[in-house]
Amino acid sequence: MKRLNILVTGGAGYLGSMISTKLIEIGHNVTVIDILEFNKTSLSHLFVKKGFKFIKADVRNKKLLKNLVKKKDIIIPLAALVGAPLCDKHPKKTKEINFDTIRYILSIIKPSQKMIYPNTNSGYGIGKKNNFCDEKSPLNPISLYGKTKVDAEKIILKHKNSVVFRLATVFGYSFRMRTDLLVNFLVNKAVVDGEIKLFEPHFRRNYIHVLDVANAFIFAIKNFSRMKGNIYNVGLSTANLTKLELAKLIKKYVSGTKIRIIKNRKDPDKRDYFVSNKKIEKLGFRPSVSIEDGIKELNYIYSNFNFKKNKNNY
Ligand SMILES: NC(=O)c1ccc[n+]([C@@H]2O[C@H](COP(=O)([O-])OP(=O)(O)OC[C@H]3O[C@@H](n4cnc5c(N)ncnc54)[C@H](O)[C@@H]3O)[C@@H](O)[C@H]2O)c1
Repeated sequence: MKRLNILVTGGAGYLGSMISTKLIEIGHNVTVIDILEFNKTSLSHLFVKKGFKFIKADVRNKKLLKNLVKKKDIIIPLAALVGAPLCDKHPKKTKEINFDTIRYILSIIKPSQKMIYPNTNSGYGIGKKNNFCDEKSPLNPISLYGKTKVDAEKIILKHKNSVVFRLATVFGYSFRMRTDLLVNFLVNKAVVDGEIKLFEPHFRRNYIHVLDVANAFIFAIKNFSRMKGNIYNVGLSTANLTKLELAKLIKKYVSGTKIRIIKNRKDPDKRDYFVSNKKIEKLGFRPSVSIEDGIKELNYIYSNFNFKKNKNNY
């Protein structure tokens, strides 16, 4: 395998710390630029590894970014303000980091350089009758977060050497932990409080383990020529579950969990959809971690480690 030079912006985050680790493990050179907004030690295990370089800096530093992009084979731009609550608090910064920085990278990137970008699928389903979504379904996000991500996706697709993922709701343990994501959040509530409170319990979503997100990036690197110029949903086809189905599954593995339905609260993103992942599956990609195994993993982690002080995206 050819050792590639890969730049991961926001590589110390929930997805980035797992992706960077897996890329180093299979022998690539990885440079991460991150301000370490959350976990300061999520990449500590990589500092002794050959080919790993870390730069603590802001991606909005154009001069620095230009230098970093210059010699790379692949750019994985993850740095962002993530999630609707955080973006609503910092609208100017959100636009600068989530959209303007991507536009800047696209203005300096050579046609031969590759880009792999993760979008959220949270704008799916809105305005659709049967809520069935494939990659042709439009994303109509209502949050500022979703809008900046969709705007970035649109301009990235103009760069021919790019692959876009629309990720399902990610779950599972990573080196920088996010306890705000739905599965991670509900298992935490089950373990710590013994109770899961659900609003809009029949809203359906798709899910994917963070390790399989890293695997999808590696799959795209290996299959780039077949995949470029396209959007792919990435999720577990075995897990298009309503919140209530998810909570019942958690109850199965975290014994004693109570489920309480909250009547008068609404989902801010209106996430209610069934997602098809056939397009990437047809190319041979198969996720490896089931939702059940992810719940068991989280149950173990939350039962043995205290995440009370974990800094979250809100
Ligand atoms: N986690 C998911 O479910 C999910 C789903 C779809 C898409 N994504 C996308 O994946 C990317 C990573 O998400 P995540 O879940 O890992 O979030 P995260 O918040 O854990 O990671 C974001 C990282 O970006 C860094 N960062 C923020 N602003 C920066 C700046 N100005 N300069 C340098 N670094 C900066 C943060 O310090 C953090 O380490 C985002 O682009 C997000 O939109 C995530």
